[in-house]
Amino acid sequence: MLVSGEGSNLQALIDGRLPIAAVASNRPNVRALERAAAAGIPARVFSLEAHASRDRRDTEMATWLALRGVDFVVSAGYMHLLTRRFLEWFPERIVNVHPSLLPAFPGPRAIDDALAAGVTTTGVTVHYVDEGLDTGTVIRQEPVPVEPQETLVERIHAVEHRLLPEVVRELCSAVH
Ligand code: GRF
Repeated sequence: MLVSGEGSNLQALIDGRLPIAAVASNRPNVRALERAAAAGIPARVFSLEAHASRDRRDTEMATWLALRGVDFVVSAGYMHLLTRRFLEWFPERIVNVHPSLLPAFPGPRAIDDALAAGVTTTGVTVHYVDEGLDTGTVIRQEPVPVEPQETLVERIHAVEHRLLPEVVRELCSAVH
């Protein structure tokens, strides 16, 4: 699993008893790493600064994950694009969760962008990852009404925490 921050989606997969072989973060000292440690999951930081290039970082990260038996990668809140080299290690086996109804509002500020655009419905997308910014094939989507705005973030996260484990469970059983 790939993370960068809070790791609430990681927690949802842990709570859903999905077999998480390893957790990789591009940032040190994040809550997601504490969650992995508490669940006894091997975790490691692969920061860009510690590597000569993005390609080198992604190659090391893919090798480390593969050595731990990972054959399916889930990115949740992972805030870096993956290089072709990483994608080639896990062809058609990397999924991401995104807080909008893609292709609407790709990028890191999807919820704010939806609010600024004044849409009445936004949502959650689980999709395959490709080299673009939130451009891969959609696997599952669920709409979320924007109103009441005060609880939108919370409601989107609740949908993510239900939808992502569901989709991952289905995809894993199709692969194994
Ligand atoms: C989620 O809203 C996800 O859709 C977005 O970043 C957030 C990550 O949350 N890409 P967490 O780290 O899983 O708590």
